[in-house]
Amino acid sequence: MKPLLIAVPKGRILAELKPLLKRAGIEPEPGFFDENDRGLRFSTNQKDIEIVRVRSFDVATFVAFGAAQMGVAGSDVLLEFDYSDLYAPLDLNIGHCRLSLAESEHMPPENSLASASHVKVATKYPNLTRKFFAEKGIQAECIRLSGAIELAPTLGLSPRIVDLVSSGKTLAANGLKEVGIIANVSSRLIINRAAFKTESARIGALIDRFREAVHAD
Ligand code: PRP
Repeated sequence: MKPLLIAVPKGRILAELKPLLKRAGIEPEPGFFDENDRGLRFSTNQKDIEIVRVRSFDVATFVAFGAAQMGVAGSDVLLEFDYSDLYAPLDLNIGHCRLSLAESEHMPPENSLASASHVKVATKYPNLTRKFFAEKGIQAECIRLSGAIELAPTLGLSPRIVDLVSSGKTLAANGLKEVGIIANVSSRLIINRAAFKTESARIGALIDRFREAVHAD
């Protein structure tokens, strides 16, 4: 039997994911939780389940194209890409944060949003950003970055950013303030729709295990 492949985001979410995976009966080999381990694909205590760790945006891509059958992705990523090949049956109740608009603490009043018809925004989320501003009748010109987005205002790239906020410490450390929430975010279990059709028993049983693991918390 071909192993099922689960794709999960690397980074700080792994600490929250570890106990959830354990409650679902999945214990990856030790290197999986070691940031210094250069491996990308790992076995688990279940011989028909393997696990890969990739960038959060790439989890959705791997699962949407069927390279992995199942994954863990933030609702921010799902909203941004709106992949029709993904089925997201379960909120895992981890990875809570928000996708927010932020600007310099010292934004001049003449640059306020109230009088703007066009704004420049640095972000990893151009689709959600454009939609958020379009609903206010403002055209958003998005400058795409993949990380360290909070640097954009101080370096003169754009006066505003849209990025994830959790504790708010990164914003504060970079002289920025949150001025609007675009979406509240949490991690979802995601499934490739075609894989779910062909492997419904195996994948369905695994979804049930994750559901029990979430509710056992
Ligand atoms: C995320 C996000 C913010 C930061 C917010 O980045 O992009 O930069 O966390 O967290 P805070 O509100 O608790 O300070 P992350 O550290 O995951 O790394 P990244 O820049 O590679 O996305």
